[in-house]
Amino acid sequence: MSRPGVYLSGVERTFGADEIIVSKTDTKGRIIYANEVFLRMAGFSEGEILNQPHSIIRHPDMPRCVFKLLWDTIEAGKEIFAYVKNRSKNGDHYWVLAHVTPTFDKSGKIVSYHSNRRSPRREAVAKAEALYQELLAIENGHADRKVGMEAAFQAVVAKLQGAGVPYDEFVFSL
Ligand SMILES: Cc1cc2nc3c(=O)[nH]c(=O)nc-3n(C[C@H](O)[C@H](O)[C@H](O)COP(=O)(O)O)c2cc1C
Repeated sequence: MSRPGVYLSGVERTFGADEIIVSKTDTKGRIIYANEVFLRMAGFSEGEILNQPHSIIRHPDMPRCVFKLLWDTIEAGKEIFAYVKNRSKNGDHYWVLAHVTPTFDKSGKIVSYHSNRRSPRREAVAKAEALYQELLAIENGHADRKVGMEAAFQAVVAKLQGAGVPYDEFVFSL
């Protein structure tokens, strides 16, 4: 499902099992570092991407509740693993398994965030895609975006409770 105005080519990009897509952001999620693999996959130059919000590569198939879970977790000072579908500048897409971590200063204050992404297994992508379609449908089923996002978030929480596993293990069981 796509939002009007966001061009999607339908072409998937992949990257090597030995490659890592790296970016760092400030505490607001603005990109302060991106490595070569990031630039190649996202299709942006360094100049185009620096100081831009990370949502510059947001794909419209991604449910908002996944990013809520991401931000709630890292702002609480914890790490998170998440499957993410990203959109390249030209409308292509690519799946990643992201590991996002906060960086602290000496006093324990969060000063930035760091994300390392590896190429996910195909079976995991298929499962994440099905789950995200379900969550997006819940989100889009509400006129109010915030209410829809909360409903989808509760659906994830219920799934985790049903499976009896913490989010990280849930991610790895996909
Ligand atoms: C370190 C870090 C890495 C992130 N990586 C991505 C990413 O690869 N793709 C993405 O869509 N959002 C990523 N985000 C989340 C974005 O900040 C944002 O919450 C998301 O794109 C949803 O944007 P929206 O709230 O404007 O819809 C990242 C955030 C942080 C802190």
